[in-house]
Amino acid sequence: MKKISIISGGSSGLGLAIAEFIVKEGKDVLILGRDNDKLTRAARKLSRISSTSHISTLVCNIGKESDIKLTGKFLKDHKIVTEYLFNNAGRGLITGAGTSTSEMIDDVFEPNLKGMILLTSEILRITPEKEELTIVNIMSTSALFGRDNETIYCAAKWGARGYTEALRTELKGTNRNIIAVYPGGMKTDFWSVIGEKQDITNFMDPAEVAKKIVGAVLDTKGLIVSDITINRKT
Ligand SMILES: NC(=O)c1ccc[n+]([C@@H]2O[C@H](COP(=O)([O-])OP(=O)(O)OC[C@H]3O[C@@H](n4cnc5c(N)ncnc54)[C@H](OP(=O)(O)O)[C@@H]3O)[C@@H](O)[C@H]2O)c1
Repeated sequence: MKKISIISGGSSGLGLAIAEFIVKEGKDVLILGRDNDKLTRAARKLSRISSTSHISTLVCNIGKESDIKLTGKFLKDHKIVTEYLFNNAGRGLITGAGTSTSEMIDDVFEPNLKGMILLTSEILRITPEKEELTIVNIMSTSALFGRDNETIYCAAKWGARGYTEALRTELKGTNRNIIAVYPGGMKTDFWSVIGEKQDITNFMDPAEVAKKIVGAVLDTKGLIVSDITINRKT
């Protein structure tokens, strides 16, 4: 069985930066996203980093069970076993608490919470128990604090945190490691997707954040870093 690292939302921002560091380690990666052109551009960038790593892309809306099942089938058909799963895909929303709609809730919960659960469940289902699997759930400092005008986003990220904690309890003593990551603000497309005029000049560089995450995740040496909070210094 070939080993692979899967990164949801690996076509841009933090996910792509994580993929770059994984590829630098000579590992094979599979990046997931909804936009094939974005995935292709990202894969081209990754293949320039290492000629030995195998880069795969799959169009997968992680909130859609049918897409998740196709991803599982792809892995099984190609006899690939997941070594690292980075649940990174997500989107934000800034809106007042009195403006919430069903559509807004679905849009935010789909990648940040439902998609994390669906993808994790499928990978757990198809990964043989004897294989070591590390699941890295990228949340946000919005999963640690309540922020104004972020009620829906905070609810989704706090949900993801609850899921992560319960998963860790359930899988204790198995070959599955669960790592929770809580980053602060980063300079990524996240803010343009929201359409929010936010001054992100002083926000963190996603490459710096990814370096810290991948460094901690890969450097196990018999120990495991279970929770990672990353903030800018000032
Ligand atoms: N930027 C920040 O300030 C910040 C701070 C704290 C935490 N975070 C978290 O960090 C993670 C990465 O975000 P980012 O800042 O790197 O933003 P980004 O550049 O917008 O990346 C988000 C990625 O998620 C993918 N995605 C969104 N919905 C998806 C879905 N339903 N299925 C599959 N892929 C989906 C997007 O690709 P497609 O749109 O092509 O599908 C994109 O590749 C997110 O979980 C975010 O909540 C960000």
